[in-house]
Amino acid sequence: MSDQIEKVFLNQRAIQRIRLLIHKRLGIHIKEGKESLLRQRLWKLIQSNEFKDLNEICDHIENEKDSGLLLRLATLISTNHTYFFREKSHFDYLQKHILPNVKMDSNKLRVWSAASSSGEEVYTLCMVLAESLGKDRFLEKVAILGTDISQRVLQKAEYGHYLKENMSQIPPNYRLNYVESVSKDTFCIKEELKKVCLFRRLNLNMPRYPFKQKFHIIFCRNVFIYFDMPTQESICNEFARHAAPDAWLFISQTETLRNLNVPWKYVTPGVYRKK
Ligand SMILES: C[S@@+](CC[C@H](N)C(=O)[O-])C[C@H]1O[C@@H](n2cnc3c(N)ncnc32)[C@H](O)[C@@H]1O
Repeated sequence: MSDQIEKVFLNQRAIQRIRLLIHKRLGIHIKEGKESLLRQRLWKLIQSNEFKDLNEICDHIENEKDSGLLLRLATLISTNHTYFFREKSHFDYLQKHILPNVKMDSNKLRVWSAASSSGEEVYTLCMVLAESLGKDRFLEKVAILGTDISQRVLQKAEYGHYLKENMSQIPPNYRLNYVESVSKDTFCIKEELKKVCLFRRLNLNMPRYPFKQKFHIIFCRNVFIYFDMPTQESICNEFARHAAPDAWLFISQTETLRNLNVPWKYVTPGVYRKK
């Protein structure tokens, strides 16, 4: 990006304005001094030639002239990096300590991946649940919801096709049972697993989530880092409002709820239980 372009389009005051707007509307906190990635990503929006500068983008969002624009902004600035069996000890914990004790009554076991990105976390949950419960019980009793703010990653998740170079992230016994080859370079998740999954767009930074039924297990990993403490608190409180008694919450092992006033008690790194 040349200096001149930077002066015209991405000047410091405009960056500050958009930083505050992103915080207010998306709950995403971009630290001062960490704006270079933001600049690079916003540059793509400017290049589309729809807006003359960043202030015009802010005006559109503030005046709600274009509801799709906030969504595009969220897609541009969020990092969607994810992979199958990420933080594997969480899935081991689920298998050893949680699933053997879940009561399979008339209700479904409802699982939510609350920042699912392109679906790897949802399908890892599928594989682990199907393996532990047996395929028939899994198909009959489990419902998994994946939500994210980015429509682009949700489309990828729904499609369920991935590059073969990422297949080694899946342990061999799971690979055998739950995925199949599509082409030389790609594989897909088997249709029967996809049957229990639903993907929807949801901004975690909204005052009230719209669910009618309670969740038993919530995964919300590697997204809290983007939010400030009041936003993290309000998200955890909303999770609790939508969680069944004794429900489980998984965040990343690199994140913590330690300094937050929330109705979740610590169990083991990244794992919490509803108080
Ligand atoms: C780094 S990925 C984590 C994916 C997965 N949970 C994992 O741990 O591998 C973070 C995801 O959070 C999503 N995200 C960021 N802000 C969000 C928000 N306000 N509401 C919902 N999702 C959000 C991003 O779009 C991205 O897909």
